[in-house]
Amino acid sequence: MQTLEGSAQNLVLRGFHVQRNFVSSELVAAFAGDYDDGLTAANQVYSLGLPAAENLARLRPRIEALIKALSSSSFRPTRIGGGVFFATGNGINFGWHQDHESYFINQTHRNYLNVYIPVVKPKAAKSNLTIVPVDNFAEAVPELWSRLEGGGASTFRQQGGRRWISDDCAGGVIGELDFDLDDLAETPELRAGDALLMRGDLFHRTQDNDTNRVALSVRVSGDQHTVTREHFECTCETKNWFLQQNAPMYDAVRTVFERHESLPLHALLEQVFALRTSQNSA
Ligand SMILES: [Fe+2]
Repeated sequence: MQTLEGSAQNLVLRGFHVQRNFVSSELVAAFAGDYDDGLTAANQVYSLGLPAAENLARLRPRIEALIKALSSSSFRPTRIGGGVFFATGNGINFGWHQDHESYFINQTHRNYLNVYIPVVKPKAAKSNLTIVPVDNFAEAVPELWSRLEGGGASTFRQQGGRRWISDDCAGGVIGELDFDLDDLAETPELRAGDALLMRGDLFHRTQDNDTNRVALSVRVSGDQHTVTREHFECTCETKNWFLQQNAPMYDAVRTVFERHESLPLHALLEQVFALRTSQNSA
């Protein structure tokens, strides 16, 4: 495995970092086996596979080392969440966006990290994530990037000759563009076991779904900041759709916000977990 040196600087300046051989071939094979076992998450937005808890536990020391490597930088994710598989074979093929659901819960992507690890990857040059590096975006349209930085739940849309970025949380338009995001894009080529470390505010899309690729995505978030009922209740048609697809989880979030106007993210996550555990065992 390579040293994690450079990861903090790349994440701060470019919004991403490629870490070669982040996961051993043995653990990659174990995750691929988990995917074949076919355990799936309840979320109806996407068809997501779930890894075995014991294999996630084996990955954990690698992510803890990564958190430590980032701890003295201005980008500091700290709380390791669960992991899910995104597979092209399950119809995963997204256009340009900043992630939605993590933003609805975290309410910011300031310290939010996506650790993206292909575990089935027939061709390094195919079926990766295509990304817009932060420095490319900021150089092309600095004022627009200042409104997008640290944010989420937005989508690049085009119709006729018009191109714009929609706000899928509060609704409306964040900004217009006179170019395609593809013009600013890069596609890091990944092999099974490599990790693409991505900030939550990085625009990304599926490169292609021509090959059968399965990637594990583990999320790490900052959890000390305050989240508010006002932010959660601010919504639009697109956000409502997401909330309906994953209703048990968002119902639990709503229940917590009925009790608190604001609270630290870690307290929200702990209370949601407790509510959902009691529901599932009821
Ligand atoms: Fe995404």
